[in-house]
Amino acid sequence: MSTLIKVGIIGSGAMGAGIAQVVAQAGHPVCLLDQNHAALQRASTGISNNLRKLAEKGKLTAEEAEAAIARVKTCNDMQSFADCGLVIEAIVEDLAVKQSVFRDVEAMVSADCVLASNTSSLSIASIAAACQRPERFIGIHFFNPAPLMQLVEVIPAVQTRAGLAEEVRALVQSWGKLPVLCQDTPGFIVNRIARPYYGEAIRLLEEGVADAATIDWAMTELGGFRMGPFALMDFIGHDVNYRVTESVFTAFFFDPRFKPSFTQKRLFEAGYYGRKSGRGFYDYREGAVPPEPTRDPALGHQVLNRILAMLINEAVDALHLHVASKEDLELAMTKGVNYPKGLLRWADELGLPAVLQTLDALYEEYHEDRYRASPLLRRLVKAEQTFFQRESVGSH
Ligand SMILES: NC(=O)c1ccc[n+]([C@@H]2O[C@H](COP(=O)([O-])OP(=O)(O)OC[C@H]3O[C@@H](n4cnc5c(N)ncnc54)[C@H](O)[C@@H]3O)[C@@H](O)[C@H]2O)c1
Repeated sequence: MSTLIKVGIIGSGAMGAGIAQVVAQAGHPVCLLDQNHAALQRASTGISNNLRKLAEKGKLTAEEAEAAIARVKTCNDMQSFADCGLVIEAIVEDLAVKQSVFRDVEAMVSADCVLASNTSSLSIASIAAACQRPERFIGIHFFNPAPLMQLVEVIPAVQTRAGLAEEVRALVQSWGKLPVLCQDTPGFIVNRIARPYYGEAIRLLEEGVADAATIDWAMTELGGFRMGPFALMDFIGHDVNYRVTESVFTAFFFDPRFKPSFTQKRLFEAGYYGRKSGRGFYDYREGAVPPEPTRDPALGHQVLNRILAMLINEAVDALHLHVASKEDLELAMTKGVNYPKGLLRWADELGLPAVLQTLDALYEEYHEDRYRASPLLRRLVKAEQTFFQRESVGSH
């Protein structure tokens, strides 16, 4: 792919507009399309405002900002995609709609135009299957807000031609982003590995081990996470977060490791979406007093160790199943969800036997498949190895 190809973007909502800004800032002519004229206008104004603000802050020169703005053209039909080298789709998360849109796109673009979806939860193979030339199809998954979040997951499908993933990775890197390569598996990297941050926290709450404020305190103060799981779920919104959990669980053929909770489902059903609706796990209505955590270090460490062991287990299992490389797994969790450390390095630091012991103790207690340790973790403990210094610990 030549570097400054014209890029078509379909869908000018939160993600499409953000991606258009990134790509235009990197120097590409952009053609932005949406079926909703008002959304397209909003996106266009939003991109101009954002770029001018960046210029005011000195992050760009005024000329650079105006040049980037001029590179974004809004369009009303796909004819303008004829000379695009890449088309990225960021429309509604619905397989049938995405497939139908790509059938139309393919009728307009050249044979070598690369087609990409920003889907969060659909398989890339299932969208590519609608195309005449599925070998040019790939997943390019940005995080919200796209101009600020550095991580981009690049996901080749089973149909994607050899070499395309590396070309796309290089292109995304040229946009100043940090691309990671991952397999076309549910949740890709971040939305798979992060599940226990929410799920195990809710489990602890349901069992009465600690309340939401105490669990949030343990994860932020003792664990160094930016936001506690309950504050974060309330921030993301339970409509979004619950749906992702349910879709990952379903896509994993109902693996109990990803099982959603009734607690969150009820919040979702009640319309208690979190911050945006005034109520979630916490009460955000005027006059509400935030609950105080119980600052008990022993309890806090119990909470942290359990959630962290579950997160580490997901990262190890993703490595075990070759979802991504060690380096990309670490990058994904530190840049995609701002974890304070990569989970594999964190496991090395804690000591793999200690992590395995936490998981095995949970498995012993609950006899639930949810707590099964990844075979790779068990194997490394047996061989006295670590993730980042593979030499035998016994040789020190
Ligand atoms: N919001 C996030 O945090 C996030 C993060 C990563 C990926 N994603 C994925 O990105 C995609 C878009 O998400 P979003 O949050 O930007 O949604 P959004 O609702 O903000 O925007 C979607 C836009 O697509 C337009 N659209 C819908 N159907 C269309 C069609 N057939 N043709 C042209 N335009 C059409 C809508 O008018 C709307 O403006 C989804 O696949 C989502 O899963 C979202």
